[in-house]
Amino acid sequence: MAHIAYIIGSLAPDSINRKLARVIVDQAPAGTELEEIDISGLPLYDRHLDEDFPDVMAQFKQRVADADGLLLVTPEHNQSFPAPVKNALDILTRGGSSELSGLKLGIVGASPGRFGTINGQSQLRQFLPPLGVRIMGSPVLAVTVGENTFTDDGGADEATTRRAGDYIAAFSRFVAAPAVLPREVVNTG
Ligand SMILES: Cc1cc2nc3c(=O)[nH]c(=O)nc-3n(C[C@H](O)[C@H](O)[C@H](O)COP(=O)(O)O)c2cc1C
Repeated sequence: MAHIAYIIGSLAPDSINRKLARVIVDQAPAGTELEEIDISGLPLYDRHLDEDFPDVMAQFKQRVADADGLLLVTPEHNQSFPAPVKNALDILTRGGSSELSGLKLGIVGASPGRFGTINGQSQLRQFLPPLGVRIMGSPVLAVTVGENTFTDDGGADEATTRRAGDYIAAFSRFVAAPAVLPREVVNTG
């Protein structure tokens, strides 16, 4: 059983990225379990929080540590990924440990833009590997959302459903595959 945690990078209740996440969850292969980690309650990180590390941040880090892999389902804001995603990733490097080290990560996103979050995804692919994150390279899932992409019953059109299914099948294999080096949480305290 692969246990994959996922984060939605949008705080909007009617988020199209939340819709994409639902399609991915529905398409997950047998033996893969997906669980959302809600980042909307995380405080904005400030280094003074290190002095009395908030429980909510410690619990968030533990849930990521407990997962076999993490999937970011994130919109693009101004050609980059949104601030709540950066905040969550920064928190994962504080509190005396970095759960980014050795983390198996998938990145997907949806936007109405022609390139469907590809710029924001590229930026994540740039700075995360030097922090020890193992990002799945392909397939890429960057969905350009039109009027009929998502359906009222929580599904999606045929092409999006197929791409979401292909993506989560590949990510499940990526998460289940033995790591070249064992995952090791780095002590930064
Ligand atoms: C501040 C801001 C900046 C945005 N910049 C981009 C952008 O660079 N590229 C893009 O494709 N969409 C951009 N959008 C449009 C978002 O993709 C759109 O609002 C989308 O619905 C966000 O995803 P969500 O529904 O999951 O929140 C931007 C939206 C906001 C609010």
